[in-house]
Parts: sequence; C-alpha cells; structure tokens
Amino acid sequence: MNTLKVELGSRSYPILIGEGLLGRRELLGQHVPARDVLVVSNAIVAPLYLDAVSESLRPRRVVEAVLPDGEAHKTLANVARLLDVLVANRFGRDCAVIALGGGVVGDMAGFAAACYQRGVSYAQVPTTLLAQVDSSVGGKTGVNHPAGKNLIGAFHQPSVVLTDTRTLATLPARELRAGLAEVIKYGLICDAAFFGWLETHLDELLAGDPAALAHVIRRSCEIKAEIVGRDEREQADRALLNLGHTFGHAVESATGYTQWLHGEAVGAGLLMAAAMSCECGLLSESEVARIRRLIGRSGLPEKIEGVTPQAALEHMRMDKKVQGGRIRLVLLRKIGDAFVTADYAEAALSRTLQAHFG
Ligand code: NAD
Ligand code: GLY
Repeated sequence: MNTLKVELGSRSYPILIGEGLLGRRELLGQHVPARDVLVVSNAIVAPLYLDAVSESLRPRRVVEAVLPDGEAHKTLANVARLLDVLVANRFGRDCAVIALGGGVVGDMAGFAAACYQRGVSYAQVPTTLLAQVDSSVGGKTGVNHPAGKNLIGAFHQPSVVLTDTRTLATLPARELRAGLAEVIKYGLICDAAFFGWLETHLDELLAGDPAALAHVIRRSCEIKAEIVGRDEREQADRALLNLGHTFGHAVESATGYTQWLHGEAVGAGLLMAAAMSCECGLLSESEVARIRRLIGRSGLPEKIEGVTPQAALEHMRMDKKVQGGRIRLVLLRKIGDAFVTADYAEAALSRTLQAHFG
C-alpha cells in the first residue's frame, strides 16, 4: 500500500492507494471513528462494492443511500435526498458520510457532508480512474445547475481517501479512457517527464495493466496533493488543475451532460487549450501534434459536433474563473508548463472554437 498525504494543517489527511484495500476491514474504520455512518453509492456501484464497505464498518450503525447513476443526477435535489436520510436517521454532528463511487457520487456525498449540521466528517472511496486520480482528492464538492457545471458547492476536505485499485477491474473501457484525460492533464500542467511516460506506456494503461494504473494514480495524486496543499481554495495555482476544463465544461453543459462523459469533455478541452496556446504563439505546432496524438490514442474526442462555436462561448462565460466578465484560461507555454491568463486575443479564442466545435 502507498500512503500519500495532503498537507493542510489541521485538515490534513492520507490518501491510501493499493490493490484489494476494500478487503482490509480495519483500514476504513481506523480513519472513520464515527459510530453512525451513511454510505452513499449509486445503482451501478452499490451491487459491486457496497456490501464490502458496509461490512467493514459494522458493528457501527450503517445506513446506505443509493442514488441514480450519472452526471445528469448530480443535482441539488439528490443532495437534498441525502440530507433527508441523515435527518430521518437522527444522525448527529459526530456522524460520518462515506462516498463510494466515481466523481459524481463523491461530489454529492461530500457536499451533503459539507452542508449537514454545517459540516460533518466524510471519507472518499473512489472507484473510477477519474475519481482515483482527481475528484476524491482536494475537497471540492458540489452539484451542477442547469445553467452551468459545478456552480453550487463547497470546499470540504475528506478525512481519508481510500483507493482500492482493484475496483478498476469492473470499470467500463470508456470510463477508463475518460479518466486518462485527467491523468494527461497533470503531465501537461507540470510534469513533461510524466507526459513522456504516458506516451510510452499508454497501451498498458488502456489494457488495464494494474502496475501501470497504480503508477499513474500515485503520480497524479502526488501532483494534486502538492498543488492543493499550497492553494486549497483556488486563490492561485490550483486553477492550473482546470486546464482544459473551461472548454470541457462548455462541451458538457452545451450537450446537457448526457452525450459526453466529463473526462471525454476534458480530453477535448485539453486539445482546445493546446490549440489556443499555439494560436497565441506560445506552444509549438509539434507539441500540439504530440498532445493531439496522445488524446487520439486514448480514444478521447478531438472535435465536438452539434454545438456551434457561439453556443460554446456562451457556456464558457458561466465558468467560475470568469473575472470582471473576462474568461480566464489555462494555457501552455510548453508541455509541463501551464499558466492562467486573461490576456489573449479574442480572435485566437474564436479561431480555436471554430476549429473544434460545429
Ligand atoms: P461517474 O461518477 O459518473 O462514474 C462513471 C461511471 O462509472 C458511472 O456510470 C458509475 O456508476 C460507474 N462506475 C463507477 N465505478 C465503477 C466501477 N468500479 N465499476 C463499474 N462501474 C463503475 O463519473 P467520474 O468520471 O468518476 O466523475 C466525473 C465527475 O467528477 C464529474 O461530475 C466531475 O465534475 C467531477 N469531478 C470533480 C472533481 C473534484 O475535484 N471534486 C474533479 C474532477 C471531476
Ligand atoms: N479538478 C480541479 C480541482 O480539484 O481543483
């Protein structure tokens, strides 16, 4: 088992990564002292792993909540359902919530924990590659609003992230590829050597090789823990983690959260950020070509049909990084060197959107 730490003073917590961790009954209990525990999962993940998690927590009082599956259900109404369950069972402030599933369950269970009685403890047990490399770490919780992605939420750090890499064995191939988008993101932001490693080992990752997957989960969490440790609330560097996301969120919200998976939208967004960086005279064409090749080989989309560039721009304006009406973007100087800027030519953004939407 690998143990990393997110260093946040009194809110610090461990990330435990290993194969078969759900079978180690003592682990979750060590980090979740509460006597009353709500385990939140969804209709797909619950039949696979809920019993193992609930069993490892007994003889505490364990209540289970199973939400409908999918991004379209990441809503305030479903968080309200979780709050109702907590109230109905008379859980106190000393209870804990456990999120068992992908990023959708993690974001909603975490948000319910942030809201209930002004904040109770929660643990992340991520079961998708995307959640294991990204969403379970860092304490961003929340839901979508019809007008935009993740518009409602709170920062609330978990007490532990317990990642059992064996859960990836049941993950559909399309979901695995979607998770790779967030992995590629880390290489692009700050680790050119890691990007090169991904180019070399992509086929092993796509084949679900456990050692290759364990390596990318560990490296991704190291990078994310380090960035969150120095900027928990996205006052500065944490915004780098949104590389590709302003474009990606527009893809998701313009298509009603149903056509493209979050990771797929991020994959397309990474390419758009690279193309835009090239339009701005920052990134070389050969580096854009390398990024395009890796995105393509990962089975991630390179162009979004059925959304006009104008519609995409409108959705981008809802982004949380908009300041004074100006869309701030994460761009690349080179692979491994990202920065946030509002200083770009509108024409460069228009050309990028024209080339990738429509
Ligand atoms: P998801 O939670 O919808 O999971 C993807 C699919 O895989 C779902 O159908 C799920 O039921 C299924 N699944 C999960 N684990 C499985 C397993 N082990 N075996 C079989 N099926 C399994 O999507 P996701 O990609 O995990 O997460 C995307 C969400 O995460 C988005 O809402 C995004 O906004 C959010 N996100 C949050 C953060 C953050 O910092 N909080 C970061 C990145 C993404
Ligand atoms: N996924 C972006 C963040 O956690 O900040």
